[in-house]
Amino acid sequence: MSKNPRPIVVLGGTGFVGSHLVPRLAAAGHPVLVLSRNREKQRQLAVIPQVTVRSADVHSRSVLAQHFAGAEAVVNLVGILNEAGFDGSGFRRAHVDLPRTVIGAMADAGVSRLLHMSSLKAGRGDSHYLRTRGEAEALVRASDTRWTIFQPSVIFGPGDGLFERFAGLLRLAPLMPLGRPDAKLAPVYVGDVCEAFVRALGAPSTIGRTYELYGRAMTLREIVAYTRAQLGLRRPIIGLPDALGWAQAALLGLVPGKPLSLDNWRSLAVDSVGTVDGLAALGIVPTPVDAVVPRMLRGELGRQDELDRYRSRRDGG
Ligand SMILES: NC(=O)c1ccc[n+]([C@@H]2O[C@H](COP(=O)([O-])OP(=O)(O)OC[C@H]3O[C@@H](n4cnc5c(N)ncnc54)[C@H](OP(=O)(O)O)[C@@H]3O)[C@@H](O)[C@H]2O)c1
Repeated sequence: MSKNPRPIVVLGGTGFVGSHLVPRLAAAGHPVLVLSRNREKQRQLAVIPQVTVRSADVHSRSVLAQHFAGAEAVVNLVGILNEAGFDGSGFRRAHVDLPRTVIGAMADAGVSRLLHMSSLKAGRGDSHYLRTRGEAEALVRASDTRWTIFQPSVIFGPGDGLFERFAGLLRLAPLMPLGRPDAKLAPVYVGDVCEAFVRALGAPSTIGRTYELYGRAMTLREIVAYTRAQLGLRRPIIGLPDALGWAQAALLGLVPGKPLSLDNWRSLAVDSVGTVDGLAALGIVPTPVDAVVPRMLRGELGRQDELDRYRSRRDGG
């Protein structure tokens, strides 16, 4: 790293993955500029040395170009699981229009390196979520940027929307009715995802390549049962047949905040399991669920350095 490293600009850096990636980038010696739609809600990142958080209209090409000027790279983590409406326009705005704007702004600012967060199975099936992710990937690949695309399966770790979310539901509900119980997911540890981004930044060989990031495959029912076992609970898990699962998703999709939606239901029809091990290609050994989730659900994993110690032991570092 040079004496005066140029900043990495991160979009969507205030969310779950960003809250792990931004400190990791800073620890690797990169100044980081996080652009958020509302800086005021995101004060915790701003206290990290080397990290600046600014409010910005991230959908404006000229605003982005101003912030990108002089940057080493842009990391786009923006993504949504649900839109406010139902017609796909919310997904299109976040997943397709925004990457197009980012690519244009990078050209205007003379910045060429782009790390683009996508999802495993982008472009497959008939959910707006996966379709728009596929459209964005096509835009990125057709651009003049020096791009790397990451396609994670579902991501776990402190603050996740998977084990922690099911733990919250299991603690509250007397039983767990589960749509798509046999859907396959391959949870990947957030620290490994962040490591992949950091390694890609330092490796020109990753330019023009797409990395699937995934761990061991589990069904949705296995994930919930694992969570239940960690909590020492005995709640029945009721796998719903498709008609009932559909109805559950349709109903919950009408609840404010959409805890579940028909679009989620459609995306779960495509198993989120990988075929070419992107972590291995980057020299990263996947962190197993067992190494993180039990301690995480006991509330013992607030400190990132604990996990870093795990990683350095494992990697012999
Ligand atoms: N978590 C997973 O299991 C998982 C799995 C596969 C792929 N991914 C992808 O990884 C990325 C990060 O995931 P995450 O779990 O960290 O997501 P997250 O917690 O929801 O954070 C996403 C961030 O994107 C920004 N954002 C949200 N909607 C936006 C919109 N309409 N326009 C502009 N910015 C918007 C928000 O930042 P501000 O509010 O600060 O603007 C938010 O903090 C996403 O692209 C996601 O799809 C995640």
